[in-house]
Amino acid sequence: MSSSSLTLFFFFFFASTFLYTSTNSFNITNILNQNNEFSTFNNLLTQTNLASAINSRQTITVLALSNDAVSHFSDQSAEDNKKVLSLLIILDYYDIKKLRSLNKKSVILTTLFQASGQAKGEQGFVNATVMDNGDVMFGSAVPGSILDSKLIDSVATHPYNISVLHIDSSIRFMNPDGSFDVGSSSKPLPPQPPNDDDYEFDEPPSPPSSTTKPVVADATAATAKPPSAATAKPPSAAKANSTSGVSAISTPNFASAFVISSFWLFMTVW
Ligand SMILES: *[C@@H]1O[C@H](CO)[C@@H](O)[C@H](O)[C@H]1NC(C)=O
Ligand SMILES: *[C@@H]1O[C@H](CO)[C@@H](O)[C@H](O)[C@H]1NC(C)=O
Ligand SMILES: *[C@@H]1O[C@H](CO)[C@@H](O)[C@H](O)[C@H]1NC(C)=O
Ligand SMILES: *[C@@H]1O[C@H](CO)[C@@H](O)[C@H](O)[C@H]1NC(C)=O
Repeated sequence: MSSSSLTLFFFFFFASTFLYTSTNSFNITNILNQNNEFSTFNNLLTQTNLASAINSRQTITVLALSNDAVSHFSDQSAEDNKKVLSLLIILDYYDIKKLRSLNKKSVILTTLFQASGQAKGEQGFVNATVMDNGDVMFGSAVPGSILDSKLIDSVATHPYNISVLHIDSSIRFMNPDGSFDVGSSSKPLPPQPPNDDDYEFDEPPSPPSSTTKPVVADATAATAKPPSAATAKPPSAAKANSTSGVSAISTPNFASAFVISSFWLFMTVW
């Protein structure tokens, strides 16, 4: 008896670890197939391989666009389409009820684009806000972005695994420095995306509690704090004496001061 339960344990362990894609009970293609209004969007998800990326997740929200709202996608490259569409795939479960009851009326959501490792700054995050009139609006989390994608209704929900929500227009894909921020040379962005993340932890001082959790919880999102501490170090190390002993001591001191002060700032702002 115990050996069969052990066998069962290992079966489910391996099934959930390695085979969860095939044991998933939802299929975004089938969900969207039930409504002709989303046929173009559905085809785009399949063409860009995002449909299988969605199906491989256990907790996901898809912001779906009706056929008229995706007409401009045919003018864009497949690569651009994939970027824009992956910004509509939220790595958490949000149905209408959960959005309407946001305790701070606003939340920053992690998207599949963030998980792709290509996102710079806050490009891979989406801001969802409940407006005073009750409308739920979505926009890029890049500072200065306009929230102009409006939630229309729910297409399908399989709590708490997948929620498909209909929005009226695509979320604008913003440059990391905000598209209206013309002459900002203060923040040179290196071409490697993963190390840009110090920006997102320093810039928004007041994200609600639920914003940082998805980021940390999602192992694929390249948003660990250590890189930001690491990128902050070189200037101080360069200033220190050339004696390696001195810089070896001062660098950890700086790093721990950085971590402690970040933590303090985080707790204060919370
Ligand atoms: C989802 O459904 C589509 C259409 O029915 C099918 O082609 C595809 O193989 C399914 N995907 C999975 C992962 O089952
Ligand atoms: C639904 O989500 C739960 C919790 O994340 C997970 O344990 C379960 O396997 C998921 N079910 C499916 C069908 O993906
Ligand atoms: C979302 O955007 C609105 C409008 O720009 C802003 O007021 C709000 O603070 C943002 N929410 C978060 C959590 O940053
Ligand atoms: C090296 O350390 C000495 C003593 O702490 C200091 O006076 C000097 O300016 C340092 N040199 C550099 C290049 O930082």
